[in-house]
Amino acid sequence: LKHLLTVEALTDEEVMGLIKRASQFKKGARCILNKPQYFVANLFFENSTRTHKSFEVAEKKLGLEVIEFDASTSSVQKGETLYDTILTMSALGVDAVVIRHSDENYYHELVESKSIQCSIINGGDGSGQHPSQCLLDLMTIYEEFGYFEGLKVAIVGDITHSRVAKSNMQLLKRLGAQVYFSGPKEWYDEAFEVYGHYLPLDELVEEVDVMMMLRVQHERHVGENHFSKEAYHQAYGLTIERAKRMKKSAIIMHPAPVNRDVELADQLVESLPSRIVQQMTNGVYMRMAILEAVLNGKA
Ligand code: CP
Repeated sequence: LKHLLTVEALTDEEVMGLIKRASQFKKGARCILNKPQYFVANLFFENSTRTHKSFEVAEKKLGLEVIEFDASTSSVQKGETLYDTILTMSALGVDAVVIRHSDENYYHELVESKSIQCSIINGGDGSGQHPSQCLLDLMTIYEEFGYFEGLKVAIVGDITHSRVAKSNMQLLKRLGAQVYFSGPKEWYDEAFEVYGHYLPLDELVEEVDVMMMLRVQHERHVGENHFSKEAYHQAYGLTIERAKRMKKSAIIMHPAPVNRDVELADQLVESLPSRIVQQMTNGVYMRMAILEAVLNGKA
């Protein structure tokens, strides 16, 4: 891989290769890098805990040189653009940058530039894509079931604003899973019907193998009417009562951060069927696999 920008750009073989490699890292495999020294920088222009820190842990586990970057104390504050920031990183000899940015498709001008040599790893672009989250989610599902074909996956909640939902619906559908959607109709788009079908949550809860709950993205709802927490939880959340109706083998997922007692009941976050903590742990191993593939694939 030269870059990781979207899940659509990955072949099925690359996806399965990354899942396999991440699982090997989880079992203690050592990394194989083409050069003894690589420099990487994590540039987060939107807030993050999991993606930022799990990339950092992954980088340190791989023995990479991690260059500190804090947008709030950088020349971004003097008006420097994203393009000029990455041009600078490239000129300094940074091999790969992980970027999270609020602009959808921010990466196009970076990868089209002849002057920028570093690999771009998309850590989330607005409501666009979140490929590393999707890959760690798929790793978690694969660890549980060992296959994707025919698996029933519900993606529930704030779908229009969710980059996690978009990456997951695209890749899950391509790998043969049956994707269903639920949640407020105002946060759903008919365009998603290409990937799956919308059903009321109470019709889905007993049928699916994976309940993937999404965070209500308050920061992207400027000017919109909000549900009260309780009203949202009762109408669209995974309540204790709904969770009791799930199949015994079904699992609960959430990319986190979780709004407890909104998307799912507080007690369910660390419950037996929940794989939310496992998702976070798998994030480190999947990001090790991504970094290794990108750095070794760098032109
Ligand atoms: N799941 C996820 O992307 O979390 P962060 O926003 O904390 O990185």
